[in-house]
Amino acid sequence: MFIYTIVNIGSEKSLKEEVALKYPDLSFAYSRPGYITFKDNSGKFDINSKFNLIFARACGISLGRTNSEKLEAEVSKHSADVTHRFSLVTGETSGEVAQVGQTILDVVEVKEGEFWLGMRTAHPYSWKMAGVNPKLTLPEASPSRAYLKMSEALIWTDYKFRGEETILELGCAPGGTSYSLLEKGFKVFGVDNALMNEGILNNPMFKHIKEPMQKVQDADIPRPCHILVSDVNVLPSLSLSQVKRFMDMRPGIHTVFYTLEIGSKISIEEVLKHIDSFKRFGFKEVRATQLPSNKSEVLLYGTK
Ligand SMILES: C[S@@+](CC[C@H](N)C(=O)[O-])C[C@H]1O[C@@H](n2cnc3c(N)ncnc32)[C@H](O)[C@@H]1O
Repeated sequence: MFIYTIVNIGSEKSLKEEVALKYPDLSFAYSRPGYITFKDNSGKFDINSKFNLIFARACGISLGRTNSEKLEAEVSKHSADVTHRFSLVTGETSGEVAQVGQTILDVVEVKEGEFWLGMRTAHPYSWKMAGVNPKLTLPEASPSRAYLKMSEALIWTDYKFRGEETILELGCAPGGTSYSLLEKGFKVFGVDNALMNEGILNNPMFKHIKEPMQKVQDADIPRPCHILVSDVNVLPSLSLSQVKRFMDMRPGIHTVFYTLEIGSKISIEEVLKHIDSFKRFGFKEVRATQLPSNKSEVLLYGTK
């Protein structure tokens, strides 16, 4: 059996390292930018049993390669609830959004005239649209590209605004993340000693705490507080200890969205250690993924 994966272009090496570490029975088989397959050497690999890759935006069972002439005949051999066609060459996509539990036949053009077919199931915490990318547009008024990652994180986790929810955001300047959250109805308390965008500052649902997070005390932060968002460019040991400090101050925080810079400094093992730390902090469900707009970062999501 072969496994196919869709990966952010530029993160192929991280994905291969992750697979080697977590699934030693899988060996690298084929690669194009954004698309990698692996061979199962054990003969008993179960893709539905806790198979989970941070650096794969999608993964499933590979049904092999074909070309333009044979494509439609090959597609008609397989039945799935939805068929997603997308091209890594042109970026074009087609196909209905899948519902959780449905099967998806991915038909991927990896280079001109070369197509790969694969089957996967739409699980919670997975991309369910063709191209495994919601392809969001950055609003002109957004102060930064962080808008994209926050909006993608809410889609990937299927987190819907539940009404009257307050967010404490660490590292909020210049304000793309806040822009996304305010747009959805959340009330945001943003912590950052850097300059915030004027438009965000004028939004009555936003309050700026213009301090480094280490200086912020109990009296400064909202009560109740439901969600913690952290996008701070400091050493992970510092941001992690601050997440813990704020969670101790507000045990009502039920969900955290946390950006972890990986770059060349953070290894896969360290991402996995972060997941363990989140579990120790009391989050029952902890997930990590590289969002479509992430370059050298991963998103950690924890919920109680
Ligand atoms: C990647 S940027 C955040 C982008 C932001 N989330 C947005 O939506 O535009 C990282 C931010 O962390 C802030 N930062 C760094 N150290 C900090 C600290 N100790 N406390 C609070 N913010 C800090 C920086 O000032 C910077 O604005």
